Amino acid sequence: MRITIFGTGYVGLVTGACFAEVGNDVVCVDVDGGKIDRLNRGDIPIYEPGLEGVVVRNREAGRLRFTTDTAAGVHHGQLQFIAVGTPPDEDGSADLRHVLTVAGSIAEHMTDYKVIVDKSTVPVGTADRVREAVDRGLAARGVTVDYAVVSNPEFLKEGAAVDDFMKPERVIIGSDDARARDLLHSLYSPFNRNHDRLISMDVRSAELTKYAANAMLATKISFMNELANIADRVGADIERVRIGIGSDPRIGYHFIYPGAGYGGSCFPKDVQALARTAHDVDYVPQLLQAVEEVNDRQKHYVFNRIREHFAGHLSGRCFAVWGLSFKPNTDDMREAPAGRLMESLWEAGASVRAFDPKAMAETRAIYGEREGLVLCDSPEAALEGADALVIMTEWNLFRSPDFEAMRERLAAPVIFDGRNLYDPDYLADLGYAYYAIGRPV
Ligand code: UGA
Repeated sequence: MRITIFGTGYVGLVTGACFAEVGNDVVCVDVDGGKIDRLNRGDIPIYEPGLEGVVVRNREAGRLRFTTDTAAGVHHGQLQFIAVGTPPDEDGSADLRHVLTVAGSIAEHMTDYKVIVDKSTVPVGTADRVREAVDRGLAARGVTVDYAVVSNPEFLKEGAAVDDFMKPERVIIGSDDARARDLLHSLYSPFNRNHDRLISMDVRSAELTKYAANAMLATKISFMNELANIADRVGADIERVRIGIGSDPRIGYHFIYPGAGYGGSCFPKDVQALARTAHDVDYVPQLLQAVEEVNDRQKHYVFNRIREHFAGHLSGRCFAVWGLSFKPNTDDMREAPAGRLMESLWEAGASVRAFDPKAMAETRAIYGEREGLVLCDSPEAALEGADALVIMTEWNLFRSPDFEAMRERLAAPVIFDGRNLYDPDYLADLGYAYYAIGRPV
């Protein structure tokens, strides 16, 4: 099938590459010429396991092309995917400017039947707004062209995006148009494993499903973080509680890990946007508001622990920070708890020696050469002379370090672990002061 994807961010690039991988003819359009040049050289702007191979292979085979030429993009695909960013507005609602601009461009150039697919995470009612934008564009040209607007939200996780796309748990298609639904059915059939993964529904339900999934997952995390705070105060161990409740299949083990707060480009933005949608229809979303508040508070947890340990005297101290990205296997630092922690440490007059397996360039791009930040090229180097180690992201590399050797490098054997990686008894035996989340010290 001929497919056009607007937007070459995480979602657009993975979608385009994976559709090409199963034999489709894909053109990706982006307004950022620099990005398109890089992609045309086979240089992938983001770190995502497995993505580079898929992009390079399909580009070389001629099934995946990158361009800034919007008109050519519109002419190419019968299926037009909108996968551009929807950043939060000041009031938390999703900013649809880019989505509607693409809709306008499609209307400006289309001459035959198109299926316009909303892939970006967009609030309920966006398909209607896309339709209005397209109708306006067609009316301005004085032409009538048949088309459909479909909602097909993406559920991929950063760090596992290619796998998630190639082996989806479900594909949601929101459409009121039978022809469009059939086309998407054929498009996605190569990705069905064992059974049909397609779930069809009306457009609005599909739009809400995306927010519902992320809000539910964020709720699970905030719930566990809240329990971790209670566990601290009643002398319980949240890790035992986690295992205890996860054994109930109605609860399950997934996404109940307490930590330093959720980050990333999706949960914070989507919880806020859904709350905004609720307010707009005169409903007070109490639970969603609490999910966000608990998460904001949780992002201060590790810093508060550090401050308590050092009795408030942080000025002049140095901290080794392991893990800067918002989660492992990505270089993405959007809303990363590590960023908030480093900023709090700097405000308190402390300095940071930081290491991350993939996010060093991103950290440099965000914070530059600033006082109080030394970027180190190994986990060991970050420890040199530091008053304590702080772990903010659970990269595998950090799971089984040489604690004896670490003690030699650190000024004092103190670890603040924002991801509960280690056994507290083992570390106590080694002479470490070990602070985790919701676990007795
Ligand atoms: C999330 C969803 O998991 C995807 O299904 C969705 O498609 C995506 O958002 C999106 O809307 O695009 P992602 O943001 O890549 O994916 O990352 P997650 O793996 O969900 O992790 C989000 C945050 O939650 C991370 O900061 C992680 O450390 C934290 N987390 C996750 C916990 O603190 N505890 C857990 O048990 C799980």
